[in-house]
Amino acid sequence: SKAQGWSALFTEPMSDLVKRYTSSVFFDQRLWQADIAGSRAHAQMLHSVGILSAQDEADIQHGLSQITQEIEAGQFEWKLDLEDVHLNIEARLTQLIGDAGKRLHTGRSRNDQVATDVRLWLRGEIDGIIGLLRQVQTALVDVAEQNVEVILPGFTHLQVAQPVSFAHHLLAYVEMFGRDVQRMQDVRRRTNVLPLGSAALAGTSYPLDRAQVARILGMVDAQGEPQICQNSLDAVSDRDFAIEFAAAAALVMVHVSRLSEELIVWMSQNFAFIRIADRFTTGSSIMPQKKNPDVPELARGKSGRVIGHLMGLITLMKGQPLAYNKDNQEDKEPLFDTVDTLRDTLRIFAEMIGGQPNAQTGQKEGGITVHAEAMQQAALRGYATATDLADYLVKKGLPFRDAHETVAHAVRIAIEQGVDLSELALADLQKFNPAIEADVFEVLSLHGSLHARNTLGGTAPAQVRAQIARHRAALA
Ligand code: ARG
Repeated sequence: SKAQGWSALFTEPMSDLVKRYTSSVFFDQRLWQADIAGSRAHAQMLHSVGILSAQDEADIQHGLSQITQEIEAGQFEWKLDLEDVHLNIEARLTQLIGDAGKRLHTGRSRNDQVATDVRLWLRGEIDGIIGLLRQVQTALVDVAEQNVEVILPGFTHLQVAQPVSFAHHLLAYVEMFGRDVQRMQDVRRRTNVLPLGSAALAGTSYPLDRAQVARILGMVDAQGEPQICQNSLDAVSDRDFAIEFAAAAALVMVHVSRLSEELIVWMSQNFAFIRIADRFTTGSSIMPQKKNPDVPELARGKSGRVIGHLMGLITLMKGQPLAYNKDNQEDKEPLFDTVDTLRDTLRIFAEMIGGQPNAQTGQKEGGITVHAEAMQQAALRGYATATDLADYLVKKGLPFRDAHETVAHAVRIAIEQGVDLSELALADLQKFNPAIEADVFEVLSLHGSLHARNTLGGTAPAQVRAQIARHRAALA
């Protein structure tokens, strides 16, 4: 058996340390469903091309069903001595069904198996992540819909810049997560391609029907065409699909991290723009008044971890000669942790932002609470409508650069007097430029400023409602 070494070729057993160092079973057992699916497809195909008898194939399918039950029931005994998920399952199969189990590996290598398993597993995870990204988008759109007319100071350099609709601000993240969905869909296409049939590295002399295996495993494109790795050396050795996934995942986390940063700032007493539900915050062991935004802070921190996994995976690949090298075993933990981190983070964010459905009414509740008055007061404090005054003067015939300078003077006087531009008397405003008339006050108001930005992609409520309608249709 393997416990005594690989084969007759080996003259001494592996040391315990080396066994532990080289084995992957305690993490790659997570791939068991994909491994069994691949084995089932391979066996079915081997029979259909005449390599396996009907009886052998039936025994294999039956044995794999029993192993499935054992694993699901937690009764399967994973053995370190058997190194990885592939050898553990194959050894148990042979124990259960005898020689037919030993025939399963005909025309196949663990190199093909592991590449296939990771692709199949990741395909399923990508689908889950796309679903969660849509949930986060939906939560953001839900909150946006309630807050179209709520005005927030839009910042650049974290300095008050111009008034924006709070909904508009949230919808910026809906766009980001929408591109994340597209990236995940794109990665999925290149992930869903079949390595099995490479037979370690060079192809095989058995008349394998790779297209059949691809079809059984659902490795087909939108038209139903089987997707098969076209070069056996490439098939078993590259993990670029995993690296791409990690890159897409890192971007998701960067978007989550930016949103987290804003939630944290908005929750600070000095802003007090929003509240998040208590169950996403923690207290302090010393300061009784504290409610800390631990969840967004952790999410911001976990973005570093996922970015790190991208660096780990891409570095893992860079020095490898063709074809398979054991280095690739190191792809799993970062990949698994990336998926786990993304899934948990997105699930929490969907609920923290949008709330969860009330058992009785079905209405979502417990999402973020918006303090519209605080946002509005903050927008009134930073001369957020100064650009509107400049634009007003341009419409009266001033060149923009001159208008900009004129308004800078006005802001300076307003700061000296401790008032907003809209609080200056018309006569005072007219000293800066005689063309200014009474209609300037609507222009200088937050409301007027917001509604004026009615171009495609702008923050005017009409535009924001159009964005919401577009997202609703896409998310339906
Ligand atoms: N546990 C290995 C991995 O994760 C499976 C493939 C091993 N192949 C080999 N020839 N050692 O990559």
